[in-house]
Amino acid sequence: MHIGAVQGSLTEHSCDVLIVNLFEGVESPGGGTGAVDRALSGAISDVIKRDEFQGKLGDTIVIRDCRGIQADRVVVVGLGKRESFGPPEIMRAAARAIRTCQQLKAKWVAGILHGAGVGGIEPFDCARATALGTALGAYEHTRLKTENRKSNNIESFEIVEISADKLPDIERGIGRAELVSEAVLYARDLVNEPSNVVTPEYLASAARDIAERSGMECRILDRAGIESAGMGLLAAVARGSAVEPRFIELKHTSANAGKTIALVGKGITFDSGGYSLKRSEGMYWMKDDMAGAAAVLAAMRAVPQIKPPVNLLALIPATENMIGGNAIHPGDVFTSLDGKTVEVNNTDCEGRLILSDAVAYAVDRKVDAIIDLATLTGACVGALGRQISGILGTDDELIERLIAAGDACGEKLWRLPLHEGYGDLIKGHTADIKADGGSEGGAIIGALFIKNFVGDVPWAHIDLSSSVTKKDVDLARKGAVGAGAGTLVEYLASHCDSE
Ligand code: BES
Ligand code: ZN
Ligand code: ZN
Repeated sequence: MHIGAVQGSLTEHSCDVLIVNLFEGVESPGGGTGAVDRALSGAISDVIKRDEFQGKLGDTIVIRDCRGIQADRVVVVGLGKRESFGPPEIMRAAARAIRTCQQLKAKWVAGILHGAGVGGIEPFDCARATALGTALGAYEHTRLKTENRKSNNIESFEIVEISADKLPDIERGIGRAELVSEAVLYARDLVNEPSNVVTPEYLASAARDIAERSGMECRILDRAGIESAGMGLLAAVARGSAVEPRFIELKHTSANAGKTIALVGKGITFDSGGYSLKRSEGMYWMKDDMAGAAAVLAAMRAVPQIKPPVNLLALIPATENMIGGNAIHPGDVFTSLDGKTVEVNNTDCEGRLILSDAVAYAVDRKVDAIIDLATLTGACVGALGRQISGILGTDDELIERLIAAGDACGEKLWRLPLHEGYGDLIKGHTADIKADGGSEGGAIIGALFIKNFVGDVPWAHIDLSSSVTKKDVDLARKGAVGAGAGTLVEYLASHCDSE
């Protein structure tokens, strides 16, 4: 779907569907919606009077008799209460409106800039949220459906704005939304594909593709390479899988760079739990256990457009976590890349194992900061649900910037404490440290485990509990939400604004 902006009047713009909006409790619409209402001889005011539509956030109503304007249909979307209105609400309203347009089988859609009028929000922020909500709401993973694959395809969405002087800001907002949504949708596609398609080698070839298009360096290790490099934890997890593991390294060198930031993404393409086997109910969701890797790849893919003044080292340890004659057993001990012994008492702790080798690799490369993203713990889902990711780490400023980056694109991050008091829970019995079960405080314990490997490098860990939604939400249909990708893109883009 192409998203753009045009200068003009809503009543004169010709399209299949025109989107306008209404705050909750408004009886007589003003601004652009008011102009459309007048041209329609009060059709919108009528549905309000008849109490068919109250303007509740995300509610939509379709006006089918559109004599008086150039659109075939009008969709009115509710913006909710004025007091609790901001970019997140704009995103949700835009997403619901575009879905109604999909149901109407529209191809050419145009709409009002949500929030710029009485909403009182800057045109850049309104346009970014309107365009991002539209792009994310419209997304559907249909590649594997043989029927009606293209039935919901909207060709174009235009924001129609009367005042020419707002247009440059609106276009900038749309540009930023495009950058973010491309990354989020790329990550969603990777996560939504099944594990028999997205294998470690598939992730490696995606990385090679990104490198080729941008001139980045790309290095891939296979099983033998992983073992001989000394990544004993990644090699251990990979032992149970007949599918070949990969260690993926992508390097972006910036012409005017100061620092190097490592982005580490968990790339478990299927997590059966290993011999600490998961219950079969819902196990199929564990194809999403490479959501961290997807977010990192998505962000790296956007780097040529963002041009951040930093060097980036993207690292993705990628493998399945399986059972089999060669698989590791609970209680086995392995040695990490930096020489620590680890007792694996629960083989379902594979995420922290593979991440630790990757983090140790980053420390060895003398990076200035490490950000890791991983679907690490069910406990984080328990703590925060499926709309919020957990963030923990050692560097307040890094964490605050990541939270702000998430806020800018509708990805909510909530900081959890890296409580050292739980340190005893990862002390090894036969080895230095242990990877073990237990859901109480699990998100914290998982992070504390990784902390053993970061040394004194500033570090943030994002537990992507919200990588998948099990039911439709406004911004994502059932399946991958692409969490983390938008946050990383906004975070990298913020380096351009401030440095
Ligand atoms: N991939 C899972 C975590 C997960 C669970 C992510 C549910 C998203 C939804 C991870 O590898 C795992 O299995 N973690 C265990 C750790 C436990 C054994 C300490 C868990 O959360 O149960
Ligand atoms: Zn696991
Ligand atoms: Zn896992």
